[in-house]
Amino acid sequence: MKELFELRNYCGELSAADIGKKVVLCGWADSVRDLGGIIFIRLRDVSGQVQIFSDTSLSPEVYKAAASVKSEYVLAVQGTVRKRADDAINRDMKTGEIEVLADAITVLNTSQVPPFPLSARENVGEETRLRYRYLDLRRDEMRDAIISRHKVMQAMRKYLSEQRFIEIETPMLNKSTPEGARDFLVPSRINKGEFYALPQSPQLFKQILMVSGLDRYFQIVKCFRDEDLRNDRQPEFTQVDLELSFTTPKIIMDVIEGLLNDTVKAVLGKEIPMPFPRMTYDEAMSRYGKDAPDTRFGMEIADCSLIFASSQFTVFKQALAEGGVVKAIAAPDNGGFSRKATDAYAEFVKTYGAKGLPFVKYSGGNFDGGVSKYLDEAERKGLVQAMGLSGPSVVFFAAGSDAVASPVLGNLRVRLASDLGIIDDDKLNFLWVTEFPLFEYNNDEGRFSAVHHPFTSPLEEHKKLVRDLTPDKVASVKAQAYDVVLNGVEIGGGSIRIADSALQADVFRLLGISEEEAKVKFSFLLEALQFGAPPHGGIALGLDRVMMLLLKRNSIRDVIAFPKTARGQCLMSGAPSPVSESQLDELSIKVAQTGND
Ligand code: AMO
Repeated sequence: MKELFELRNYCGELSAADIGKKVVLCGWADSVRDLGGIIFIRLRDVSGQVQIFSDTSLSPEVYKAAASVKSEYVLAVQGTVRKRADDAINRDMKTGEIEVLADAITVLNTSQVPPFPLSARENVGEETRLRYRYLDLRRDEMRDAIISRHKVMQAMRKYLSEQRFIEIETPMLNKSTPEGARDFLVPSRINKGEFYALPQSPQLFKQILMVSGLDRYFQIVKCFRDEDLRNDRQPEFTQVDLELSFTTPKIIMDVIEGLLNDTVKAVLGKEIPMPFPRMTYDEAMSRYGKDAPDTRFGMEIADCSLIFASSQFTVFKQALAEGGVVKAIAAPDNGGFSRKATDAYAEFVKTYGAKGLPFVKYSGGNFDGGVSKYLDEAERKGLVQAMGLSGPSVVFFAAGSDAVASPVLGNLRVRLASDLGIIDDDKLNFLWVTEFPLFEYNNDEGRFSAVHHPFTSPLEEHKKLVRDLTPDKVASVKAQAYDVVLNGVEIGGGSIRIADSALQADVFRLLGISEEEAKVKFSFLLEALQFGAPPHGGIALGLDRVMMLLLKRNSIRDVIAFPKTARGQCLMSGAPSPVSESQLDELSIKVAQTGND
């Protein structure tokens, strides 16, 4: 058998060019069709599938072996490639022009009946797929995703190496990094009562690498964040992490655009337009109500505050009197905006802090329904102009503080576009969002926090504002920080770092990080920065998100070989799980409570 394996061919790579050739194939029986005297087996391996043919009249012995084969048995097949009859050609199958006439079939292993059909068209519950992930990974769409991911990682390594980046591994057992999420902790057996933290990102180490003079670093690296999970979040995920010395945002953006171009080429075989459009954070919020706007469709937000300056409608009047805004978006009216539908949207926006969702319908030059009775002639004209109304539309309003109104419409915009089916699925709209606020202020807790992380530099001209910053001015200090967005999803973020220790001290002070605390948390970085730190900056891409979007999957779980559920569990291995008393004793740990309550 060993010799046979040495002669192995791949199922999915056979073609008409191989007709007449003797081949050895190894793989799994995808399906078996017994027509009585003739058996067809679809044999599957990592490269795809091919049809195996066996006929009792040609070889009763081979036919007998074929008859013993069941779904997912592991086979070695020796045979000859031949052309299929014209009426048997399968155009839906890559190897559908040919088949392999079996000379010998060896069952290498049997299989239990799989708990779900492996044909890609079957709709199988995700829990089952995760429980039997090894079977799920045999399915075409999962296998394709994993192979594409491999190709992307290879293309990225090649591109970054060509750009003089050096791949360096940073430690997994660390002190905690201040990225804002909760840490996963690992108890130390030797240093009782002390803990490592798994890296939320290699942020501090990559900055230290710049001090070391290894002036372009990259790593395709696992990061760990103990945060609430969504379809684009996992507790462990993969970053393509970069740091550069003697750099500018433009240099970093150029590198990333080239990297993403090679990534798209590796997955989809096409180039993307470069440079990517750029937009400041303020512009993104005012036009799209989101810091990661989806620019594949219009329905932009219009500020209608001036139009309604003397409105008779109490909701608008009150919002403006309190210094707020009246903003609106217009959706094409396809006749689907029943009372029930607009009520559902009103319910939807409540989750974003709106109290209600006033709307008007527009058609043939007239306004109707909703709050139209409050609109005077000038307001109607103003609206038509501001919203660019022409065809039948529904105009939705948000009135109140801008901090609530814009995100309300931003989220409604995305929901409407998806419900109306107006998003072009084939578009890849990359976008840079720049000049994020450096800090945010939490009114409830009465404190500032860093929007990106505490090592992010303000814009040159805003540096002097940090020292005496007051909460009301928090939005005026902008960072040298940039996010890269694809189709409305943040796929990466980075910044130019603070190189000046006096400024770093001002930032810590503002964030309420005492000198003591800064020393305890990241003295090693602060110390390193005093030994000839070059100006530096970097960025990290979320590899799982990039793959999810390029492969048009709904969740990053579908591009990760062994992902966790929304509850952070691995359904296949059963992690996390209790450990033995003796393991805990060794670590001097006592569990106060078990279960999820
Ligand atoms: P940031 O926190 O923005 O930056 O993370 C960079 C990118 O990582 C991805 N990402 C995630 N993907 C899946 N699951 C998660 N839980 C998750 N969290 C983040 C996103 C995000 O854009 N050290 C900085 C980078 C830097 O400044 O150089 C950092 O980690 O796509």
